Amino acid sequence: MALLEIRDVTRRFGDFVAVDAVSLSIDAGEFFTLLGPSGCGKTTLLRMIAGFDQPDSGRIELDGRDMTGVPPEERNVHTVFQSYALFPHMTVAQNIAFPLRMAGCPAADVAPRVQEALDDVSLVGMDRRFPHELSGGQRQRVALARALVNRPKLLLLDEPLAALDAKLREKMQLELITLQKEIGVTFVYVTHDQEEALALSHRIAVMNKGRVEQLDQPQTIYSAPRSRFVADFIGECNLLDCTVQSSGDATLQLDVDGLGGVRATGPDTAKGRTGQRGTLALRPEKVSIARELTAADCTNRFAGKVFDYLYTGDVTLYIVEVDGGRRLEVMLPNNAVGRSSKFFEPGDAVQVGWRDDAGHFLED
Ligand SMILES: Nc1ncnc2c1ncn2[C@@H]1O[C@H](COP(=O)(O)OP(=O)(O)O)[C@@H](O)[C@H]1O
Ligand SMILES: [Mg+2]
Repeated sequence: MALLEIRDVTRRFGDFVAVDAVSLSIDAGEFFTLLGPSGCGKTTLLRMIAGFDQPDSGRIELDGRDMTGVPPEERNVHTVFQSYALFPHMTVAQNIAFPLRMAGCPAADVAPRVQEALDDVSLVGMDRRFPHELSGGQRQRVALARALVNRPKLLLLDEPLAALDAKLREKMQLELITLQKEIGVTFVYVTHDQEEALALSHRIAVMNKGRVEQLDQPQTIYSAPRSRFVADFIGECNLLDCTVQSSGDATLQLDVDGLGGVRATGPDTAKGRTGQRGTLALRPEKVSIARELTAADCTNRFAGKVFDYLYTGDVTLYIVEVDGGRRLEVMLPNNAVGRSSKFFEPGDAVQVGWRDDAGHFLED
């Protein structure tokens, strides 16, 4: 049985549907992420799981129990917000002890459990500090310790790292993965940052306009997006309008607007009827670029010239204008053997190409 069942949950604000018939089933021990752009309904859904808000229809079950009408403090659920929401006049230890005291924990048990929680988040020795004496990352760790001290079944995290700078965020991401594994608490994590979602999660639900567009493991979300929205939202992607010419067992023959014939694969939902319009999704890192490519490298090959490039340190993103006018993004790692940092200049004649299984056909 799943730990958390969200069954057909809808939440409206006036005429606006913020969460639209969402169903999700989350297992005990999972690191589950709700990912989507700002305003897609992530926080609204999280607030209903926590019990701060009620669905207009549908229901939420925790451990097989219907949560309708159950107040937040009676759910075995804690929430960590982006703003740490620590009590400024209390020490770290007092902040962490607060939920224990609220729950009527025997006085003798408070100190050892606070120490255990401090140990969980690597803050041993910081118990007498006040929040203003801590860094942003340390404050967020205190917030985590306070959320975990009661050993909830479910921890909800709403963009908890969004206020931290890039370097610290990466460090905290690694700590979160370790923490979740060690404690075994189920995480429902909210973020609009696709890299963060890919790095942290066992499964990701990609949300758009109140709905779940795709629910899969990170690798699948990235390599086999099921819609144009998901392909576009997760990482860089060439999205090319096209028509299906014919379909075989494993590949589709497509006619790509402004490019020509391309072979691609499709998810099983896309049966690819002849004449059907859709989108070819092609990741820039799956496209090769060279003065000349051989058919052995790439079954789909096109000549063109470099239009522009963007150097970003570890990779360079080239924009190549293919004969016929279509522009493609091509990503080259700068550490590739035999490559100087700037391999091509704008105006250079090049070939671009990719394998049949690099491109995915998406139905419109
Ligand atoms: N209490 C509210 N009253 C009216 N509209 C709201 C309320 N809460 C959220 N919304 C709207 O619902 C949509 C989803 O909001 P939210 O769940 O906060 O999105 P996210 O967390 O994904 O950025 C937004 O358009 C937001 O303006
Ligand atoms: Mg939000």
